[in-house]
Amino acid sequence: MDARIGNTRITLVSGDITEQDTDAIINAANPSLMGGGGVDGAIHRKGGPDILKECKLIRQTSWKEGLPTGEAVATAAGRLKAKKVIHTVGPVWSGGDKGEPELLARAYRSCLALALKMGLKTVSFPSISTGVYGYPVERASIIAVRIVLDFLKENTGIEEVRFVLHSPRDLQTYKKALETAYLQKN
Ligand code: APR
Repeated sequence: MDARIGNTRITLVSGDITEQDTDAIINAANPSLMGGGGVDGAIHRKGGPDILKECKLIRQTSWKEGLPTGEAVATAAGRLKAKKVIHTVGPVWSGGDKGEPELLARAYRSCLALALKMGLKTVSFPSISTGVYGYPVERASIIAVRIVLDFLKENTGIEEVRFVLHSPRDLQTYKKALETAYLQKN
């Protein structure tokens, strides 16, 4: 299912985020920015050492204590098709009453704001926090879609926001969230 907000397309695909040809690919990182498993591992593995090199520079200059949850930074994309990788840290799920929803919302918003600031017209998101970090995918999808729709209603300049889901089940969950939010908004 695709949707439109102004001049921006919102698309849902099932696949591998490292294969996406959007200007920006969002990495579901951890505060160390030194890589990990899941999306983080795939992006560093396929993108190559240039990404980690810039992550280390960011840790030495801007975020000496690590990237706080909800913040976003950009690096080169190395061998990936994208122009830039935007790294963000989603919240670890701890039951839902420790500020996780607000932190997840902030992560999505920070990524979109940074992409806009850098003139990156198309952005691919994974389902942030719903893997290792344990965020229930249905709850996360509702937040992700709402934040993206709200941001795009207030900001022009991004041409496509693509959610790249790693399983048919997650694709269905995000599809349902988008349909529900889209119908409410229009
Ligand atoms: N492409 C798209 N989606 C993917 C891919 C991929 N190549 N690999 C995994 N996913 C999906 C997972 O199935 C999950 O739905 O991305 C979602 C996020 O999962 P994680 O990558 O585990 O990210 P997250 O839950 O945010 O946990 C972040 O995991 O890899 C470590 O260093 C990372 O500590 C950090 C933590």
